[in-house]
Amino acid sequence: MERVIIFDTTLRDGEQAAGGTLNIQEKLEIARQLERLGVDIIEAGFPISTPGDFEAVRLIAKEIRTPIICALARAHPDDIDRAWEAVREAEHPRIHVFLSASDIHLIYQLKKSREQILEASRDMVARAKKYVDDVEFSPMDASRTEPGYIYQIVEAVIDAGATTVNIPDTVGYAIPDEFGRLIDGIFQNVPNIGQAIVSVHCHNDLGLAVANSLEAVKRGARQVECTINGIGERAGNASLEEIVMAVKTRNDFFNLTTNIDARQIYKTSRLVSELTGFTVQPNKAIVGANAFRHESGIHQDGVIKMPITYEIIDPRAVGIPASSLVLGKLSGRHAFKERLAELGYSLSEGDFDRAFSAFKELADKKKGITDRDIESLIAQELRTVSEVYHLDRVQVSCGDRGIPTASVMLSTPDGQVLADAALGTGPVAAVYKAIHRIVGVSNSLIEFSVKSVTEGIDAIGEVLIRIESEGITYTGRGADTDIIVASAKAYMNALNRLLAARKLAE
Ligand code: KIV
Ligand code: ZN
Repeated sequence: MERVIIFDTTLRDGEQAAGGTLNIQEKLEIARQLERLGVDIIEAGFPISTPGDFEAVRLIAKEIRTPIICALARAHPDDIDRAWEAVREAEHPRIHVFLSASDIHLIYQLKKSREQILEASRDMVARAKKYVDDVEFSPMDASRTEPGYIYQIVEAVIDAGATTVNIPDTVGYAIPDEFGRLIDGIFQNVPNIGQAIVSVHCHNDLGLAVANSLEAVKRGARQVECTINGIGERAGNASLEEIVMAVKTRNDFFNLTTNIDARQIYKTSRLVSELTGFTVQPNKAIVGANAFRHESGIHQDGVIKMPITYEIIDPRAVGIPASSLVLGKLSGRHAFKERLAELGYSLSEGDFDRAFSAFKELADKKKGITDRDIESLIAQELRTVSEVYHLDRVQVSCGDRGIPTASVMLSTPDGQVLADAALGTGPVAAVYKAIHRIVGVSNSLIEFSVKSVTEGIDAIGEVLIRIESEGITYTGRGADTDIIVASAKAYMNALNRLLAARKLAE
């Protein structure tokens, strides 16, 4: 059976989603999980864009050995040289060169002629080819470009050495049949098309990214660019899990396969959601909380009698845990370790000890500990950024009579202890002001949300915040059974990220 190559761009286009910044360690953690998931290509970043992106691509290229590691570059010599520097240590490196092709972009943005674009595309692919054999080219905004001009560019870049030609629906404007005809046209009108893989990269502005990608696959495209949970610029990219499960579930229709280990899908989705702070909508296909829940009595009856009546996919096939065994106060190290293994975590001895003591602490406050509690606990305990300031204590007084007041105590790695207090319009404002008095980095809070991890009055509260400083957004997360403590942890997490990013930039 023929195979569709899965090109994951969660760490590049996905990270371009407003507010979705990830630090280097988080990118590496996601890349490791993408490798377990079995993606063929990881687009790890856009190295020339920031020093942080360059470092992340370089680290991923060094550490992740099975998939192709791809770096994005504009059709500009400096971009291509920098992309190569970042991926040169990869076992399988790729450079992905892109340049706008539509008249809309040429006239209003680049102010260049079609001839100039054609020449630059050819020259820059040739430049990338001097470094590496595996070169991809994308004529940006292809779906709004005159097809005849796309055929010319595609032919020229294949002549220059491109091994993959990617057709992007950059602004999510295409309609499936029309996009399919563009792909047909490429196969019919580009004489050397047999020397390259045809790829597609669809955005979701009209909610058609997956439909357009699948239409292209039907017409012969053999690489799909997509992201976990469909995150990406604006309305996002085609969702990896939807593409993969459509090809797998409707194998009778597509007669194609992928390299993806579908049992890793749910875990990957949770990880990306956790680290980016983008929650997955409940009705999201494949990975949404309601994707396998049956509410209607008729449906429940059918599923009990025979799941296939209303379930086209077995939830276990995408890695949704079969049991939701609840752990508690009396659960020991062994039970906790087994549950972690079932959830797909394999921790070092030291990390396991930290996680276990956090679990015991939580079990003292909360009756039943579910899988979601464990995921939240792991995220808190093991994914802390290296801290410039650590939150030691936080105390608030609030209510409908007095003025909300907070005192906080922070410590630094060299043992300094710093304390301060502040008043606020509410307890969170008071805590944030008190912390701000100590840390003193100007920033503004642009997003604050709190949600409970599970149901029940003793549930863990998860706080997600985004702060902005000098035009850059930093995400912070905190979890605790006390939501004021969770809010303080989230603020410290965002501030520590901000300070770490500044240190790296210096
Ligand atoms: O959407 C787009 O056109 C892109 C290109 C860089 C492939 O992301
Ligand atoms: Zn894109």
